[in-house]
Amino acid sequence: MKRAQEAVTIRPQMVKDAKGFYQILTQGNFRFFPVNVASIEAERRFLRKTVRQWKAGETWNFAIMLGDRLIGAIGVMPEDGRPYCAEIGYFIEASQHGRGYALQAVRLVEEYIFANQPQIRRLFACMVVDNLPSARVAEKAGFTREGRLAGYLKVGEKYHDAFIYGKLIR
Ligand SMILES: CC(C)(COP(=O)(O)OP(=O)(O)OC[C@H]1O[C@@H](n2cnc3c(N)ncnc32)[C@H](O)[C@@H]1OP(=O)(O)O)[C@@H](O)C(=O)NCCC(=O)NCCS
Repeated sequence: MKRAQEAVTIRPQMVKDAKGFYQILTQGNFRFFPVNVASIEAERRFLRKTVRQWKAGETWNFAIMLGDRLIGAIGVMPEDGRPYCAEIGYFIEASQHGRGYALQAVRLVEEYIFANQPQIRRLFACMVVDNLPSARVAEKAGFTREGRLAGYLKVGEKYHDAFIYGKLIR
């Protein structure tokens, strides 16, 4: 298996990332990840909201960069009514899979949250039970599989069982 040649970096998502995210999401053919982006303009609207949410301290959505190249996204979203718990989600451009980039990004995000969002104690991730790469990333990042959630995730028209992985960061 190919290993990472380079270290990735993360930075807040920007509206100018719309075309890049649109391409990654629509060309990725992700089997277990719902892609609801209809156009580059729709992605721009999403990113404007993301920028507002970051400023308001509601959600932290990052771009994953390989040098100057956008290769994916990773976000942290606190649970409604439980600001000490936050969900983490990620995707990487299909051509860059299997190089350890998602794992690097999860570690960077965890460091950011630990240093900058002291109210967050628990991170968790959910994925379709057949999404083996995503589960592997969570395991490699030190998350524990806590259970199976029946019919929890909807991808396209299908409902799937999900695994939930959790980690206390403080
Ligand atoms: C999940 C995802 C982000 C992983 O990105 P990535 O950069 O390829 O991840 P990494 O390289 O850090 O790690 C992938 C791990 O899964 C393993 N893996 C890949 N395909 C696998 C398979 N079919 N079965 C078992 N393990 C598999 C890899 O071998 C690697 O583990 P290793 O380092 O122990 O060898 C990427 O597959 C993706 O974007 N998928 C579509 C979006 C998605 O499903 N996101 C998650 C939603 S919760």
